[in-house]
Amino acid sequence: PEPGWTTRSDVVVVGSGIAGLTAALRIHANLRARSEDDGSTVLLVTKDVLSAGSTQWAQGGIAAALGEGDTPEQHERDTLVAGAGACDLAAVRQLVTEGPDAVRELIALGTNFDHHDGQLSLTREGGHHRDRIAHAGGDATGAEIQRALIAAVEAAAGIEVIQHALAIDLLLAADGGVAGLTLHVIGEGQRDGVGAVHCRAVVLASGGIGQVFAQSTNPAVSTGDGMALAIRAGATLRDLEFVQFHPTVMYLGQDRRGQQPLISEAVRGEGAFLVDFDGVRFMQGQHELADLAPRDVVAKAITRRMHETGKPHMWLDARHLGAEFWAKRFPTILSVCRSHGVDPVNDLIPVAPAHHFASGGVATDLSGRCDVPGLYATGEVACSGVHGANRLASNSLLEGLVFSRRIAEVLPEELRPWADPVTDQRPAALARADVRTAMQTLMTDFVGVLRTEEGLLTALAQLPELLVANAGEADAEMDAKAAVGAGVEAWETTNLVTIAIALARAAVGRRETRGSHWREDFPDRDDQEMAGHFDAVLVDGTV
Ligand code: SIN
Repeated sequence: PEPGWTTRSDVVVVGSGIAGLTAALRIHANLRARSEDDGSTVLLVTKDVLSAGSTQWAQGGIAAALGEGDTPEQHERDTLVAGAGACDLAAVRQLVTEGPDAVRELIALGTNFDHHDGQLSLTREGGHHRDRIAHAGGDATGAEIQRALIAAVEAAAGIEVIQHALAIDLLLAADGGVAGLTLHVIGEGQRDGVGAVHCRAVVLASGGIGQVFAQSTNPAVSTGDGMALAIRAGATLRDLEFVQFHPTVMYLGQDRRGQQPLISEAVRGEGAFLVDFDGVRFMQGQHELADLAPRDVVAKAITRRMHETGKPHMWLDARHLGAEFWAKRFPTILSVCRSHGVDPVNDLIPVAPAHHFASGGVATDLSGRCDVPGLYATGEVACSGVHGANRLASNSLLEGLVFSRRIAEVLPEELRPWADPVTDQRPAALARADVRTAMQTLMTDFVGVLRTEEGLLTALAQLPELLVANAGEADAEMDAKAAVGAGVEAWETTNLVTIAIALARAAVGRRETRGSHWREDFPDRDDQEMAGHFDAVLVDGTV
């Protein structure tokens, strides 16, 4: 699209969850702290309002070795085991060693974590052998962190914010590096509609891809915009096939679409357990940690039991926690359950696995750098290799925090010179907003928790048909634009279909079962496949 307005800022941060807010705050502070403060500016853009996005929905908490007797080495071990042999050791080590200080810094910034007898309250979740999950407001951890970070951004004079701004595409310079970013803004004063920001660096912190699937714990804004933009700009993505399905998402019926209520693992961490329709505790004997086994193990056990018994869900029993404990420890979940007619103090909670987190994303080094010069990524949109084949519970808020701090260390020292944009990374093809439901059904049916080659190929045969035109052909592009209306919803759907195709390709290429990637036709882990696979699943800019 031709930009209707232009502006400039040295650095643009895309996204306002824990990763984006931390990146904006710390980059701004580090730019100001340079011996020669040249007045470089930071612009934070976010697709909805500052408080929207996945961070505010995070319940369980943030993991770090802060408890007595706990160490980064033990946190590292649990992270590596959950990651099923596919983690990048250096990335994990960075996460767990820098984690405790990063959380202390959040506390210093004003985040009110829960305390007990004057000590930070720490709980346990799946895959952890220690109590190391800090939480706030009982089960409202993400919302409290986001509140504190937004207050800090608002207090830090000089960070400009544009809300309701969808990042469309990078503008690239002649050397292939970042020269700017196009945005579609709705109703922000003079900047309404499509515009361009000229800049010297872009930090993607735009979150995940939840709306690729029919049911997800992610909010409506999680449409994979950052990953799709990176694919179009020629950046490398990795590990897309490792999509995490949360085991205990409240089951509200087969026809429910979009965001579903999460029942935090912390509920099992405090003693709840899974049962089938006959009251059998089927996690016992499946894993040494039983109901607190890593997430993929529990999700698979639930799915298997659902198939064996022909039931659409299983049950979580947390009645014994009692009314008082429920109200104090899990007020958010309690009220959501009650709003759906389930009282967890007296009733079993119906649960089934649903999409939760993208362990893969835009490939980065340990400082968040992507392979497009001037492009950085942090948080769920990024893949440093820290999660491998399956993210450990409550490592995601920590990832955003630690990697954004790292980016802020290096970025001010390596800002590119201003450059003229020579290319606008137009979508290779466009999708009409109304194909979203068809895409979600294909993804949930064939690229979901249980995959086969036949199913994946069925999805791959049908997904490209949802894209309507090739941008290389001017006439076709004009027709397509007229057809799709080129509004925010159509951009989002184009991004979703782009990600869906890339994800299905990555999944069909990995002929083994590992972590959250479960192939019914290749049920065993195959380290030979792992060794030869990495290059094959890198996605190189074309879909
Ligand atoms: C949960 O509270 O169960 C989710 C935590 C996470 O996704 O790490």
